[in-house]
Amino acid sequence: KPKLKTVQELVETGEGLPERYIFPTTGDDEGQQPLNVLVPEMEISSIDLSLLFSSSDEGQQELSKLHSVLSTWGVAQVTNHGITEAFLDKVYSLTKQFFAFSSEEKQKYAREIGGYQGYGNDTIFSDDQPLDWIDRLHLTTYPEDQRQLKFWPETPIEFRETLHEYTMKLKILREQLFKGMARSLELEEECFLEMCGEDSIMETRFNMYPPCPRPDKVIGSRPHTDGSAVTLLLPDKNVEGLQFLKDGNWYKAPIIPDAILITVGDVLQIMSNGVYKSPVHRVVTNTEKERISVATFCFPHAEKVIHPVEGLVSEARPRLYKTFKNYPEIYFKYYHQGGRPIEGVL
Ligand code: SIN
Ligand code: FE2
Repeated sequence: KPKLKTVQELVETGEGLPERYIFPTTGDDEGQQPLNVLVPEMEISSIDLSLLFSSSDEGQQELSKLHSVLSTWGVAQVTNHGITEAFLDKVYSLTKQFFAFSSEEKQKYAREIGGYQGYGNDTIFSDDQPLDWIDRLHLTTYPEDQRQLKFWPETPIEFRETLHEYTMKLKILREQLFKGMARSLELEEECFLEMCGEDSIMETRFNMYPPCPRPDKVIGSRPHTDGSAVTLLLPDKNVEGLQFLKDGNWYKAPIIPDAILITVGDVLQIMSNGVYKSPVHRVVTNTEKERISVATFCFPHAEKVIHPVEGLVSEARPRLYKTFKNYPEIYFKYYHQGGRPIEGVL
C-alpha cells in the first residue's frame, strides 16, 4: 500500500503543500515561467470518423485533414466515433463518483508496491522525485485475460460493467483509427493493426486532479509523450488543463463535448517513420475546480516487434528508428529518468 497520502487526502486534511510537489525550475525559459500562464487554444479541425472510409471527395478531404493534423499537432478531435454522448457522460460520472468515495473505500483498490494497476497517487520511483498533483486508478482492460479484477471498483455499482462496455467500444474505435490512419498515409489498411497485434493491450487510466493551492508551481501531469500507439482521451467537459507543446510553445486543448481526443503515441511515431508526431503534453492545475479525465492507452502486444513500416521508408525519407521489442517497457524505464527511448536511436 502506498505510504504517501494521496492528493485528495492532502486536500482533505488541509495540511499544506509538501515540498515534493513543487515542480523544479530547470533554468530554461520554461522553468522560469509560472505554470499557470494563459496560453492560446490550439486550432485543430475535428475529424469525422465515419467519413474516413468513404470513397467520395469528402472522404478524401477528411483523410487529408487527418494527415495534416497528425503530422503537425499529433492530436485530433474525433467526432462521429460511434459512442454516444450519453455513454461518455456515464463513464465520466462513474469516475467522478468513484473519486468522491472515502479514502478507505478507494484504498481497497490500492496499487501494490512495484505494480502499476490500481488506485494511488503519482508513481514513485525515487525518493527525491517531484510529484504530480494527481490521483489515479489504472486498469488493464484488454485482452480480458489480462484484467486484474481485484483492482476494479465494485462501487459505484455500474462501474465494472460500464468499463467493460466502454472497452469493447474503444476496441472498435481503435481498429477504425488504425485503419483510417493507414489510409491517410496511403498504406495497406491493416498494417498498423498487424504490427501491434490483434489482441494488443488496452489500459485505462482514470485521472483526478484536485484543486491545487499553487497552480503556478505545481503541475498536474509533467510534460511527457505517451508510450502507446494511440491514446483515446475523454477530457473533462468543464475544466481545462490539458496543453500541448508545438514549436516551443504551449497551447490548450479545446473542449468539444462529444468528441474523443486522440493523441499519437511514440509507437505510432515509430511505425509511421516520424510522419505522425507523438506530441509533448502536460496538465496544469487550478485553485478552484477538480478536473477528471479518462485516458485509454492502446499499446502493441508485448511480443510484437515495432519498426517503421516499409511504405514510409525511401531514399528521400530514410528510416529514422530502430526496431523495438516491447516498446512500452523500455518507455517506462526511460520515463522515470526523464528521457525518451525514441530519441537518437539509429
Ligand atoms: C495525460 O495525458 O497525461 C493526461 C491527460 C489529461 O488528463 O487530460
Ligand atoms: Fe499523456
